[in-house]
Amino acid sequence: MRVINETTITDAALDQMSSTPDPRLKQIMESLVRHLHDFAREVDLTPEEWLAGIKFLTSVGQTCTEHRQEFILLSDTLGLSSLTNALHDKRATEASTKSSLLGPFYRHDAPMMKLGDSIISRSKGTEIVFYGKVTDAAGKGIPNALVQIWEPDETGNYDLQNHDPSIMDLRGCFHADAEGGYYFRGLCPLGYMIPMDGPVGDMIRAQKRHGYRPAHIHFVIGAPGYRELVTALYIEGDAHIDSDTVFGVVESLVTKVNKKDPDSPLPYLPSIRYDFQLARETDKASGRVGADPSQILKKTPVATKA
Ligand SMILES: [Fe+2]
Repeated sequence: MRVINETTITDAALDQMSSTPDPRLKQIMESLVRHLHDFAREVDLTPEEWLAGIKFLTSVGQTCTEHRQEFILLSDTLGLSSLTNALHDKRATEASTKSSLLGPFYRHDAPMMKLGDSIISRSKGTEIVFYGKVTDAAGKGIPNALVQIWEPDETGNYDLQNHDPSIMDLRGCFHADAEGGYYFRGLCPLGYMIPMDGPVGDMIRAQKRHGYRPAHIHFVIGAPGYRELVTALYIEGDAHIDSDTVFGVVESLVTKVNKKDPDSPLPYLPSIRYDFQLARETDKASGRVGADPSQILKKTPVATKA
């Protein structure tokens, strides 16, 4: 009979899982168990601490609704989402704009708009025009690329957090023109504190972290034959640009607001210009590290017996 102790338990667990037919599932679970056991041995985990961890994760799950995703927030604040983005970018075979977090506030059904429209329906704040081009790795415009945008309001909240979530604000989808050009009006991006009224907020406070994200606006950009780009633009000079609670800032995504811009399609407004570069698609891998909370809760139909 096998002796189970603090060192032999790892091989015993791996042996039992060795019959897993899916090779990728087998690899992921074996590695997870190995690292999890090493972690427990390294910190000499006590039963009380193990139970505190179980209670914390239970609370994270119980906080999730169709409008809130506490697990994504946890992944974001632990740096796991940003790491997953960096690994995704590394797999691209052509130059492209860097990824940034999709986060927990994306909605899959934002309204389709016309170039130049405003995504502001209820909010008040400084209006600004965002414009630029969506190009391939060689800098050639990608006609008709789909540009999805969402941003928080002047109080630092997304529509999902702020009021009746069935009313959308500060979201929109646009098709680029024949040269890959896009432009739309929105709010000058602002920073915010991540939701602090749940278990992730408790963790952030216990670690004496500030909980802020620097000013930003989110983008998902796609076109047939290209890797979907999930990213965000950040604003130079923000007080939290170097200490983002969710580690989303990449230097190449930091932009600045131009007060006067004669090249802007709407020169009477302040502007941010940014050109996005998409890499050609070599596999069907998604770059979405985050999700619309309602889509995660969506039940998969279970086959019933006849
Ligand atoms: Fe955000």
